[in-house]
Amino acid sequence: MTVSYLAQVCVLGATLVAVAASANFVTDVDITWGDSRAKILDNGQLLELTMDEASGSGFQSKNEYLFGRLDMPIKLVPGNSAGTVTTFYLSSQGPTHDEIDFEFLGNISGEPYVLHTNVYAEGKGDREQQFYLWFDPRVSFHNYSILWNPHQIVFYVDATPIRAFRNSEKMGVAYPKNQPMRLYSSLWDGDDWATRGGLVKTDWSQAPFVASYKSFSADACVSTGGTSLCPASKGTWWDQELNASEEQRLEWVRSNYMIYNYCEDAKRFPQGLPPECTLEQ
Ligand SMILES: *[C@@H]1O[C@H](CO)[C@@H](O)[C@H](O)[C@H]1NC(C)=O
Ligand SMILES: *[C@@H]1O[C@H](CO)[C@@H](O)[C@H](O)[C@H]1NC(C)=O
Ligand SMILES: *[C@@H]1O[C@H](CO)[C@@H](O)[C@H](O)[C@H]1NC(C)=O
Repeated sequence: MTVSYLAQVCVLGATLVAVAASANFVTDVDITWGDSRAKILDNGQLLELTMDEASGSGFQSKNEYLFGRLDMPIKLVPGNSAGTVTTFYLSSQGPTHDEIDFEFLGNISGEPYVLHTNVYAEGKGDREQQFYLWFDPRVSFHNYSILWNPHQIVFYVDATPIRAFRNSEKMGVAYPKNQPMRLYSSLWDGDDWATRGGLVKTDWSQAPFVASYKSFSADACVSTGGTSLCPASKGTWWDQELNASEEQRLEWVRSNYMIYNYCEDAKRFPQGLPPECTLEQ
């Protein structure tokens, strides 16, 4: 009796761990780029991406996800990071791919990073929004999170929503919902556009540049061979809408920290703003 009870607890425990645990970089990602410039440390709890004049570096998740809540703690390149681009994004493959992007554009010491975001659906992007942050992201780890469910994609910085891309299929706008996406991160040289539109170049005397990632949490449906396995805990994000206090936070970010919004860039869309802009504002 006791034995079988214990066995059951263990099985249950194992299931919960498999579903809700934060990832271990040793077992859950592949280093795809930059060889030893990507270093896994602390028994898989920490990953450092470095960039020198010869190359940047990157990794990708072994799993592919179809909807989920992903939280990635990142500490950005300290000191003079002008020209560097640090990324965390979800993407599928091919010409009609879907993609959800966080890109962090570095700056000289003391000047602010820019957080650049974008959403691609069925190969179509051009949905950039950019923000300053209300803290210095070089000093400590902060969670950058993607909530992706059938109704909306929400970008969070710690608990604060900074952007919501709503499903506007009713208006004929494609929405990412059929293609599983992998998680990717990278550190690369983007000095032709990243800092003040390319005016400030990477100072290679400061290399190597280092961005640090802590083990991410993927509370997400894992897709393998055409079937998708959702965690029991998906109830917390599958139907999630922003509540009143989150809408307020979002508004606070948009009023105080948003520096570019494609939905307000009428010059760029002479035929009229994209239809989803009536929802995304
Ligand atoms: C990020 O979020 C996870 C929960 O998903 C939490 O355990 C962790 O402490 C957070 N990390 C930071 C740096 O806020
Ligand atoms: C870098 O600092 C300059 C000056 O404060 C600012 O205009 C720019 O938006 C900052 N960020 C980037 C990525 O260029
Ligand atoms: C709103 O949602 C957030 C995140 O789920 C939660 O932490 C907060 O308690 C909620 N606030 C209210 C007023 O329901």
